[in-house]
Amino acid sequence: MFGFNYYTPTKVVFGKGTESRVAELIREFGGKKVLIHYGGGSVMRSGLLKRVTDSLEAADIPYVTLGGAVPNPHLGLVYEGIELCRRENVDFLLAVGGGSAIDSAKAIGYGVTNEGDVWDFYDYKRKAAACLPLGVILTIAATGSEMSDSSVITKEEGLVKRGYSSDYGRPRFAIMNPELTMTLPDYQTACGCTDIMMHTMERYFTNGGNMEITDAIAEGLLRTVMKNAEILVKDPKNYDARAEIMWAGSLSHNGLTGCGNDGGDWMTHKLEHELGGLYDVAHGAGLAAVWGSWARYVMADCLPRFRRFAVNVMGVEPAGSDTETALKGIEALEAFFRRINMPTNLRELGVSATDEDLRLMAHKCAVGVNGAMGSAKLLREEDMLKIFQASR
Ligand code: NZQ
Ligand code: ZN
Repeated sequence: MFGFNYYTPTKVVFGKGTESRVAELIREFGGKKVLIHYGGGSVMRSGLLKRVTDSLEAADIPYVTLGGAVPNPHLGLVYEGIELCRRENVDFLLAVGGGSAIDSAKAIGYGVTNEGDVWDFYDYKRKAAACLPLGVILTIAATGSEMSDSSVITKEEGLVKRGYSSDYGRPRFAIMNPELTMTLPDYQTACGCTDIMMHTMERYFTNGGNMEITDAIAEGLLRTVMKNAEILVKDPKNYDARAEIMWAGSLSHNGLTGCGNDGGDWMTHKLEHELGGLYDVAHGAGLAAVWGSWARYVMADCLPRFRRFAVNVMGVEPAGSDTETALKGIEALEAFFRRINMPTNLRELGVSATDEDLRLMAHKCAVGVNGAMGSAKLLREEDMLKIFQASR
């Protein structure tokens, strides 16, 4: 077991109708002029944005709005948001939406409070010294960005998708009403469940310092998400299933399921970020499409963890060698992905990649991780290429 920092400063306000407390929470955290940042329009169609602006008006809190954060949010809109905040003297950000609106808001917050080009942070050139305070009203359970330190932005030029992590970016509050996720398309619900699982699995499949209490939390979280994801396939309006998944999403990426380990593997995410950058696929679906190929490629180097996952998470009866048991666990998770209509390869993801595309993604991925990365198995460019080839 390794030592760790566990820092979760976000005030979580969870349950039905909690969005009605937004003005009170902005005041509590000192907001005087707010930028409301959102995505492509779901918050207008659902009436949520109107409820939020009504609440702010009733509380005499001035605001400006900026919509248009797309899935795999773009740097161009971040620059626009920074300009708007400076012009309007905004001192508080409110993201209403999912990971894309939240991440875009975090980037705007870094840009407003730091000199120079905000992309420098995502390009690993320097670190942010501050961020505007940020509150969230979450509409999709997926990324955990409502409590996490990370933000993922795509630079249009070169389609470079990169993440930046800093405690300054952790939201001050997160309003989580599971009912708000009931308008999600089924595909997005399933993508979210996949992403939630993967945030814990990235921390679970490591060769360093695993801790019994962390493993028990991780395994319980994974079983809970799988059970409730299957309920939502048949009964998308099931409040309790939505609530279980929403809370799991936050716990999965606020650091809890990685305490005591070596920081995690994270290569499935790095591989997916190349897919998201190049083909603009939904993040969760991209993860599902490459995970099986990654798992088979690294399994031998992290066998005890894969065996444990098979037995404790996927309910595999151990029989034969550890390798056979581990393999059954991988197959069982792929079968689960199919049951919730997630892809298990690039073809099912709707991506027909050329050899050249795969080489380009492997190269960009290797550059993005400074040559090599991975705890289950250290991967270099040639390994990344083989995984992409196997996932075709
Ligand atoms: O844009 P709108 O119109 O709001 O529609 C969105 C979008 O099309 C829609 N949606 C969201 N809530 C809805 C809804 N539609 C109907 N009803 C609702 N209640 O769903 C679509 C997906 O939304 P988005 O915010 O893009 O999804 P998600 O939360 O999965 O975020 C994905 C982005 O976050 C990054 C991903 O790479 C991707 O760019 N990630 C961020 C992380 C972080 N900050 O910690 C970690 C993750 O690993 C991930 O990389
Ligand atoms: Zn993710």
